[in-house]
Amino acid sequence: MSADPITIFRKTWGTYQKVISHNLMFHREITAAVATVFERRSGPLRFIDLGCGDASHILKLLKPDQLAEYCGCDLSQFALDEARKNLEPFGAVINLCCNDMLSVLRQATANHYDIVYSSYALHHLPTEAKQAVFTECRRALGDNGVLILVDVMRDEEQARQEYLYRYNRAVRTQWEALTPDERNQVQEHIRNCDFPECASTLEQFARNAGFTTCRRLEKQTWHEAWRFEA
Ligand SMILES: C[S@@+](CC[C@H](N)C(=O)[O-])C[C@H]1O[C@@H](n2cnc3c(N)ncnc32)[C@H](O)[C@@H]1O
Repeated sequence: MSADPITIFRKTWGTYQKVISHNLMFHREITAAVATVFERRSGPLRFIDLGCGDASHILKLLKPDQLAEYCGCDLSQFALDEARKNLEPFGAVINLCCNDMLSVLRQATANHYDIVYSSYALHHLPTEAKQAVFTECRRALGDNGVLILVDVMRDEEQARQEYLYRYNRAVRTQWEALTPDERNQVQEHIRNCDFPECASTLEQFARNAGFTTCRRLEKQTWHEAWRFEA
């Protein structure tokens, strides 16, 4: 078996696509809830997507004429190459950066964006960096801007170890659409890379950053979508 990182990343990405297509992380419900926010916004929008992956969700959320500018950042160049292909139908200015989301936000012009969007990526960051992300999001957004956050969140008072145990038990016993090898891959990723916060902690980070309206749009087990406005 090859240990080449690109091959490994492709394999993991393939498993994630299977997770999405079987709706194991509730992308369907979350996308429907988030889409209601965009239906109410007149375009064209300046949009930044933190941890954008292959950006395939954008096609489900926005019509081509709703997008003026799209900045997607991700740590994976493979994902960004896929994103470029997926974003072809949009006539918008597309800027894709292979960089950490906090560095990209820090370089963003103040008050520039209408939407900051991040889906299933923030939980990879340490706690202090998450607060910094909220602070930089507030700075990068105009006064009528919206931050949409989709992520896994621990139950209130639930310690990380307890979360890992319960989430991984759900993967083991309920994610039957995946092969045993794929389920192991997912569980290993969760043990090594998932550092989710409780929703109340993220709401506090948002308020510290100057967001005054904090609304939950959807919750399906540990999978949540929130909208934050100044
Ligand atoms: C589970 S995928 C989600 C992709 C996409 N946003 C979605 O919802 O389908 C998480 C993505 O976040 C990226 N990521 C993780 N940590 C990051 C960081 N610090 N800065 C930017 N991207 C990051 C990963 O490379 C990966 O593509």
